[in-house]
Amino acid sequence: MKAVVYHKPKDVRVEQVPDPTIQSPTDGIVRITSTAICGSDLHIYNGFLPQPRPMVLGHEFMGVVEATGADVHRVKVGDRVVVGFSVTCGTCWFCMHAHPSHCERSNPKSYGPDGGVLEGKGGGLFGYTDLYGGHDGGQAEAARVPWIDATVRRVPDDIPDEHVLFASDILPTGWAGIEWSGLQPGETVAILGAGPVGLATAKIAWLRGAGRVIVVDLLAYRLEKARLVARAETINASVTDTVETLRAMTEGRGPDVCVDAVGMEVHRSAFEKVANVVHGQAGSITALDTCMRAVRRCGRVSVLGVYGSKYDNFPFHRHFDKGLSVKGGQSDPQSSMDAILTLLVEERLRAHDIASHTLPLEDAARAYRIFNDKLDDCVKVVLKP
Ligand SMILES: NC(=O)c1ccc[n+]([C@@H]2O[C@H](COP(=O)([O-])OP(=O)(O)OC[C@H]3O[C@@H](n4cnc5c(N)ncnc54)[C@H](O)[C@@H]3O)[C@@H](O)[C@H]2O)c1
Ligand SMILES: [Zn+2]
Ligand SMILES: [Zn+2]
Repeated sequence: MKAVVYHKPKDVRVEQVPDPTIQSPTDGIVRITSTAICGSDLHIYNGFLPQPRPMVLGHEFMGVVEATGADVHRVKVGDRVVVGFSVTCGTCWFCMHAHPSHCERSNPKSYGPDGGVLEGKGGGLFGYTDLYGGHDGGQAEAARVPWIDATVRRVPDDIPDEHVLFASDILPTGWAGIEWSGLQPGETVAILGAGPVGLATAKIAWLRGAGRVIVVDLLAYRLEKARLVARAETINASVTDTVETLRAMTEGRGPDVCVDAVGMEVHRSAFEKVANVVHGQAGSITALDTCMRAVRRCGRVSVLGVYGSKYDNFPFHRHFDKGLSVKGGQSDPQSSMDAILTLLVEERLRAHDIASHTLPLEDAARAYRIFNDKLDDCVKVVLKP
């Protein structure tokens, strides 16, 4: 079959690879009809997350179940399913406590309680390096889905792929950012980053009762998209100071909730990039620092953007003096997918307007380039195998 294979930073190729096979009685094989590229894939693409051997990428995908192992009971051959990005057994302590992304069984080689840089990682993720289980991903014609009963959700046959595909990652991730913040009705939510995750978070914020939603980015075309698809007020951080503007918009106090949907690959000057390398850091915490400065006293910060190392100068003084609550991490897609799919099917939530490009899988190398380099007004690419 054809698949998107990572070789080295900035080098992904569409190649012929062996078809996936059932390896355990709880496996299923999904024939993929739609898949997407995520900002998280860019951390591998840009070399922020090491991957020493070639690997099939992709953790946002859906399709039709083609085969199941002898111990699969809930999912049937022919079912149309959306796959949650984390590989989850459904029965370990973390899976039973609504934290499937911390599954104790899906990453046997590198899992552990420590959360280190190169060891003690979390549960397995599709197509997300050997550190996260070495599972082949879904930017391919088909994928092996371990514990398919727990990992996927069925979707009705009559709804287009594009309407439900983002239940695999960006919608559950936006959901987590708002859930973690304990958003109260009428509160003001500021979101740093108008990428797919920021836009999904803005949509969920409205659904969950926000009074105002403000989206910050440096790219005018993405801010326009935030106004268009998420009815957000916007701040262009390339022309105005984010913290001052947010305070000016909120009677000097700052937003009740700030969401970091940027992460370590924040926009940096050449000097900052050198300084980060000298300090042995993966990227920088500028976006998180901005959230912690901007949010009101006793406010809440949700960290959805990925951070991959230790960071100097973490503003713990601000955390303490302002009495902040900060919660971040990998979201747990299987915990919110049912609620999200209901909203999508009932059309109380729409997210297909986040996609800017639909391209054949064969064009994956170009798709990675335009998404990474923010060319051609790219916001989110859906690939069709
Ligand atoms: N926690 C999770 O479970 C989870 C799930 C999916 C994605 N993510 C992470 O979320 C982050 C965003 O993902 P995405 O797909 O939207 O990526 P993306 O790269 O498309 O979006 C990031 C956006 O941040 C903007 N940005 C950069 N510097 C900024 C600054 N100083 N202020 C404001 N905006 C700035 C960029 O212009 C870009 O539009 C990534 O780190 C990704 O890995 C986390
Ligand atoms: Zn993703
Ligand atoms: Zn588990």
